[in-house]
Amino acid sequence: MSTFDDYLATFDGDPGYLDWAAFGPISPTVRAEVFADADLLGSGRPSSRSLVAERLDEARVLAAELLGVDSETVTLQPSSSHGLMHALFGLSGTVIASTAEFPSVTMTLERAAQLSAGGLVPRWIMPEDGFVTVDAVAEALDDDVTALVVSHVDFRTGYRTDLAGLRDVLGPDRLLIVDAVQSFGVVDDDYAAADVVVGHGYKWLRAARGTGFASFSAQARERIEPVLSGLAGVDGGLPIDELPAPAASARAFIVNGPDQLAVARLAIGLRDVRDAGVAEIEETIRGRIDTIFEIADRHGIPVLTPRDRERRAGIVTLAPEAPAAVSAALTNEGIVATTRGTTVRVAAHAGTSDDTLRMLDDALRTIVAPGV
Ligand SMILES: Cc1ncc(COP(=O)(O)O)c(C=O)c1O
Repeated sequence: MSTFDDYLATFDGDPGYLDWAAFGPISPTVRAEVFADADLLGSGRPSSRSLVAERLDEARVLAAELLGVDSETVTLQPSSSHGLMHALFGLSGTVIASTAEFPSVTMTLERAAQLSAGGLVPRWIMPEDGFVTVDAVAEALDDDVTALVVSHVDFRTGYRTDLAGLRDVLGPDRLLIVDAVQSFGVVDDDYAAADVVVGHGYKWLRAARGTGFASFSAQARERIEPVLSGLAGVDGGLPIDELPAPAASARAFIVNGPDQLAVARLAIGLRDVRDAGVAEIEETIRGRIDTIFEIADRHGIPVLTPRDRERRAGIVTLAPEAPAAVSAALTNEGIVATTRGTTVRVAAHAGTSDDTLRMLDDALRTIVAPGV
């Protein structure tokens, strides 16, 4: 069996799960690691504690490898929102963001602006369909703009933005800050085009909460003041009887040591994805999403997600005429998805089975009027 087949074999949940954009059921490899590491920490032996502690560097190095950046630029965080706080609270100037972004972008930018006494000004944009395209950003640009904060893949519509195009339009000096929660590990893209990338392990990496991470490029480290830097954000160990400056590396953007078991889970989630190959995972997901489009089309259900394979990832957002009826039909069939307002979001991973897609088809068939 190939490594990729081994990876697919780890998707051992019941069929019907299409909620990967909300939560990724924890993989068997990650579950096994939790027990092994808890046993090691239970012994209290220094050698056992060091074995678990080694996962910290392992996770940073693996995240850096998948991001295509140097491991000095990566820090581990309790969540991706914490990573965004470290980035946005240290910014100044005018920062572009869409009002339709996930609240960890909008709320954090607003709070950072409130605290900045006028030093940081959000420039809210409302692009058509909520898609933060290169054109939408170009329209909002002027000399005051110092940064853009954007989701790589939009949590609401599944729209995947064009990182290289955004970098081009921003130019080399403005910061490109990317929330990669809905893409990291399943979209093979040029993450190194961004100055800051935040993500986490509890959806597509299947490693549960507490597994955030963030990368800060040399330019980001120069321009973002590490205002939330704490006792662990320095070089040279515990700063007793001294008050050193924040580290020069991305380590500056941490408060204290992370949860060791969460770090271990993240390391295993990252390792599994690295071994399987992000490009192959992405290609497999594309096939699943193609099928979901076919199913939606067959049942006459409008879709908000772009059809272009380059502009989407693992999310398909349905906009049915009767969202409550669709939601009920999915639940009755045993499908797990996210209904929010008038839309139903389904999200497929590489291990999403044919049975799951058949269940989706069956569920949608029950709510469509004959003849449609
Ligand atoms: C695009 C996006 N960003 C951020 C988050 C929140 O991430 P965290 O819980 O790591 O702060 C989510 C959660 O669904 C999300 O979809």
